[in-house]
Amino acid sequence: MNFEEQLSAKVEQVNRSLLEALPNREVKPARLHEAIRHSSEAGGKRLRPVLLLAAHDLFPGTGDPMAAALAIECIHTYSLIHDDLPAMDDSDTRRRQPSCHKAFDEATAILAGDALQPMAFELLAKGYHNIPEVAVDLVRMLAETAGSEQLVGGQMQDLLSEGEEPDAENLGYIHQNKTAAMIRASLQMGFRLGEKGVDLGLMGLVAEAGLSLGLAFQAVDDLLDVTRTSEELGKDAAHDAECGKVTWVGLLGEEKARKLATQHTEDALGKLEEVGGDNVFLLELVKRMLDRTH
Ligand code: IPE
Ligand code: IPE
Ligand code: MG
Ligand code: MG
Ligand code: MG
Repeated sequence: MNFEEQLSAKVEQVNRSLLEALPNREVKPARLHEAIRHSSEAGGKRLRPVLLLAAHDLFPGTGDPMAAALAIECIHTYSLIHDDLPAMDDSDTRRRQPSCHKAFDEATAILAGDALQPMAFELLAKGYHNIPEVAVDLVRMLAETAGSEQLVGGQMQDLLSEGEEPDAENLGYIHQNKTAAMIRASLQMGFRLGEKGVDLGLMGLVAEAGLSLGLAFQAVDDLLDVTRTSEELGKDAAHDAECGKVTWVGLLGEEKARKLATQHTEDALGKLEEVGGDNVFLLELVKRMLDRTH
């Protein structure tokens, strides 16, 4: 299989498993489960779960990585639902359809996001109860990453900084925490499930690669916001300036922001090459994430 075929096979596996794992729309209260499925089933790129599967495939282990892949997607989808709320970025479109609070209402969107969080940890507990040490590590990794000093902390600082002069240190904190932490956790959780999951030296390299990849990812997200249309992105474009967000584009301009994303991508590739294993797919995925158009 070539890269595209491998990628679409992995995305389809994730989509299929997600459909099975989420409560059906009819389950009471149906409105809540419809909202969860509205946001989860929409056309996300599934990059975090695919990164997790690819990191597992470096040194395949005994644990099936799919439950962890779905768990990370649940946390990511909740973060998008809440990110779009009027109290946060106030975005009307997400994943090529009305954002959750537009399709339903604010209270339902808040609750759909709330429900997706414990669902992630339930998936980990059920998926890995037979390998308790791995289960505990995965729960700890995901909880730390989603918590007040990483994902939520980054979102807080992103909002607190609206309208401020861009400042490299602050922007570094925001990007590292709101976005790069989850990308890093995707690679780390996948690697933990593999055969070399307890090798701390290799895990350190995987973490560094994940951080660099995540910083590249958010730099590209900020670039796409100014270079692409809402139609191309499937979400509100030209929205960062409207919200007064601090971004690398605002601080450095487009050209230097792109150079920064390229540099972070090269750093990530270098670290992943050091990790070794069956990395052909993962290296190609990391390269393509730099040139993505949505
Ligand atoms: C969007 O993430 C939020 C950011 C961290 C920039 P993605 O671009 O991965 O969104 P989906 O999952 O494909 O919708
Ligand atoms: C959000 O960053 C990162 C999250 C944790 C959801 P953005 O606010 O830039 O993400 P988009 O552009 O709305 O997808
Ligand atoms: Mg935001
Ligand atoms: Mg946003
Ligand atoms: Mg953005």
